[in-house]
Amino acid sequence: MKPNTTRQKISLLAIGTLAAVGGALWVSQTASGSDNGTAVSAGLVLPEMDSAMGRKLFASKGCAVCHSINGIGGDDAPALDAQTMDGPMNPFEFAARMWRGAEAMVYMQREELGDVIELDGAELAAIIAFAHDPEEQAKYSEADWPQPIADLISGAHAEAEGENAHSSSD
Ligand code: HEC
Repeated sequence: MKPNTTRQKISLLAIGTLAAVGGALWVSQTASGSDNGTAVSAGLVLPEMDSAMGRKLFASKGCAVCHSINGIGGDDAPALDAQTMDGPMNPFEFAARMWRGAEAMVYMQREELGDVIELDGAELAAIIAFAHDPEEQAKYSEADWPQPIADLISGAHAEAEGENAHSSSD
């Protein structure tokens, strides 16, 4: 990868994160609630935060390859169990945590997934909702993983075990 491509991806991630941050505040449903979200101030609309959709996206986008929930999934990155989240939490804070981890995540996503995960604002809002919803997380299981993601996770585990076996035999 050329360095400027990496930079572009990183700035895209930044823009994506900021866009999602703009849409990520939890608001109670209003009578006019629609797919377009709820207007909160001049020029800003906050989307619905759909944690059931977030559960599917957490798996299908590949977050699960590195981050565990309920003790399942990859263990290369901090677990994202709802019980460990500050509550009630400003959803912008979750995106800010992602942003702090962005450099490592971009690097590792290229290594493990072959590319950087792309998210739009509604998708990130859904994932953030899932990260904070213990009831939805209780439903999360390996059955949520599409086959390619399940393969990546079992491959990563096998590799980690191979490395451990190698280093302990030295
Ligand atoms: C290829 C591995 C990988 C994937 C895939 C991945 N992450 Fe990460 N993530 C990491 C690593 C590594 C860190 C820790 C970075 C650090 O500590 O600097 C991290 C950090 C984070 C953090 C901050 C955690 C903390 O303790 O503050 C959040 C939140 C996060 N990731 C969310 C996500 C979400 C949501 C997705 C899916 C859209 C995702 N990550 C996909 C590797 C990954």
